[in-house]
Amino acid sequence: MQVACSFTEVAFMKQAAEADSVTRLDQDMAEKNLSGYWRLGMEGLPPHPMTAVQPCLWRWSDVRSSLVRAGDVISLENSERRVVRLVNPGLDQKNGFATHTIQISFQYVKPGENARAHRHTPAALRFVLEGCGAYTTVDGQKCVMEPGDLILTPQLTWHDHSNDSDAPMIWLDGLDFPLVQALHQVMQERYPERRQPIEKSSEDVIGNLGGAVRHGLPLADFFHYKWRDTEPTLLALARSPAARDPHDGYLLEYRNPIGGGATMTTIQCAVQLLPAREETAAHRHTSTVIYHAFRGSGTTEIGGERFDWQQGDSFVVPLWHDHRHINRSSSEDAILFSMTDTPALRALGLYREEF
Ligand SMILES: [Fe+2]
Ligand SMILES: [Fe+2]
Repeated sequence: MQVACSFTEVAFMKQAAEADSVTRLDQDMAEKNLSGYWRLGMEGLPPHPMTAVQPCLWRWSDVRSSLVRAGDVISLENSERRVVRLVNPGLDQKNGFATHTIQISFQYVKPGENARAHRHTPAALRFVLEGCGAYTTVDGQKCVMEPGDLILTPQLTWHDHSNDSDAPMIWLDGLDFPLVQALHQVMQERYPERRQPIEKSSEDVIGNLGGAVRHGLPLADFFHYKWRDTEPTLLALARSPAARDPHDGYLLEYRNPIGGGATMTTIQCAVQLLPAREETAAHRHTSTVIYHAFRGSGTTEIGGERFDWQQGDSFVVPLWHDHRHINRSSSEDAILFSMTDTPALRALGLYREEF
């Protein structure tokens, strides 16, 4: 059956057939919030993941001196936190992110100071570098900080930092802020008071995990990995040649002791020991890793570029970049602390590794 067209419709179709072009089609579609796939060209998608994140190393002397200067000119009355962020030159500078998924920064809290209580959707962690005796309170749990301790503040846990010691505290902050921002999920709330009440200590929680737990008492969330527990475990691991990973040396992951899963849903933390003269084999993976040299010095080759690091330096290995670690010392072990977005990629089915 034929459909009759009006004179006007026929005239319009005729005009369109004569005068249409890709440019005109694109313009008309753009006005209707439409876009043709042909605008992407014939190249198609890349054969492997691409990233704007660049391999980059930040010197501890630059970071620390900036923190100390900030201690003189930035007040915690005027700034929510006194934090220096590491910024990747390949990313938008106004965001101040080191990678596209995880942010690394360093925080400085002077004696007598308190960084007020708040909570937010980005998950955060602290790896303690300098000072002793200050504490972070996480959902009522007082976590007294010592160098090498890892303290978690998962999504929407209340946290505040207090330094009642007589020396400044410096720690590394890791957050999944870039990832949460990409998902349009960033929000923050302030606690009604500057400090939240303390209900228990890390010792109470760790004690519960090792022994009998009163019936009906909910298992506490686990927030605090103490270096005094981590270090002997890492050293014991390094005495077992069978435990050596060809790409990472002796690597110990921080796993949740209750559920056994990743450190947090979006971030996996680890410490790895590279014995004197260690040279690992190269590999690459779809996860991005931020490293912090906690002990010793060495070299990491990233995408054919050499990065020499010393204690306190931080560096980024972007996704799908070949990399290998070298401890150039003939006598000293090196220890790297790391954060990676592997759990998020695994959850999305996007983690891959290649040797
Ligand atoms: Fe926070
Ligand atoms: Fe790796």
